[in-house]
Amino acid sequence: MKVMYSAVQPSGNLTIGNYIGAVRNWVRLQHEYECFYAIADMHAITVKQDPAELRRRTLELAALYVACGIDPEQCALYVQSHVSAHAELCWVLNSLTYVGEASRMTQFKDKSRKHADNVNMGLMDYPVLMAADILLYQTDFVPVGADQKQHVELARDLAERFNKRYSETFKVPEPLIVQGEARICSLQEPDKKMSKSDADPNASVYLSDDRDTVMRKFKRAVTDSGNEILSSPEKPGITNLLNIYCAFHGCTMSEAESTFAGMGYGDFKLAVGETVADVLAPIQAEKERLLKEKDVLAGYLSAGAERAFKAARKTLSKVYRKVGFYQG
Ligand code: AMP
Ligand code: TRP
Repeated sequence: MKVMYSAVQPSGNLTIGNYIGAVRNWVRLQHEYECFYAIADMHAITVKQDPAELRRRTLELAALYVACGIDPEQCALYVQSHVSAHAELCWVLNSLTYVGEASRMTQFKDKSRKHADNVNMGLMDYPVLMAADILLYQTDFVPVGADQKQHVELARDLAERFNKRYSETFKVPEPLIVQGEARICSLQEPDKKMSKSDADPNASVYLSDDRDTVMRKFKRAVTDSGNEILSSPEKPGITNLLNIYCAFHGCTMSEAESTFAGMGYGDFKLAVGETVADVLAPIQAEKERLLKEKDVLAGYLSAGAERAFKAARKTLSKVYRKVGFYQG
């Protein structure tokens, strides 16, 4: 079975964009691949975090994944810091990564500007740790957003560099980038991607938003001039709403267009909001139920970490042998 690896940081609230572009696909793919899904808490601390909040978000994210349909028996769902091999492989890869290439990473440059008072080594090492995450599991595919593509490319370069220097060890992974219809845009600026870091809370619908909040955000969503509900490049607002409807209702664009033909913008926005809220309600209820059963959730995570550890240890001991660490 081919291996799929992905991770999300437990920082920020997941949006319906994350759900459509990432989590829902993970659920769909979990039966076709051997999947490892991590909660990247070690990546999260490269920017300042409140410790109690980080702990809370880690558990909440685990509950949310399971509530969205990630089956913890099918996939290894685990917390990155529970598997020490990530940090260990990162150290070996550090000695293979040039300072020049790490400092040229777009996200490192962006984050250095944004957190100018805290340009720490971890921030620069972020993509190397990500390469370690991916390479430990002999991953074939890495589903990520376009912003993470450069990091997956570094993982490929490091895998090839290691293999060339020490002989064939790592599988060279491929990024799987979400595009086209799976891209959900901001409700306020529909030519921009919906993002969990958007400062305007009305721009994004979070998976944790209750029905009233969802409805209010859709009511306020920016639309376009004219009154026809059709998907077109001149109508980014309406197109985005139609896209969201298709993704949540499970239909094609032309089916959605004929459903709403002749309807006013106001009623259309309400219908899209209802559709989204109907999908989110059971996910939220399940998440709350899981958060009340902390032992069950902790059990899933420790089983996930154990499975991940077994796979990771195989790669790590091969790596240690190849680089010349004495192993007795
Ligand atoms: P991010 O929230 O940027 O860290 O992205 C985490 C994952 O969610 C990535 O794999 C993205 O592909 C996906 N994602 C984030 N925002 C969107 C969006 N607006 N539409 C579709 N997918 C998204
Ligand atoms: N850096 C990724 C993000 O912010 C999260 C991540 C950490 C990741 N390790 C990974 C994604 C390994 C894919 C593979 O989205």
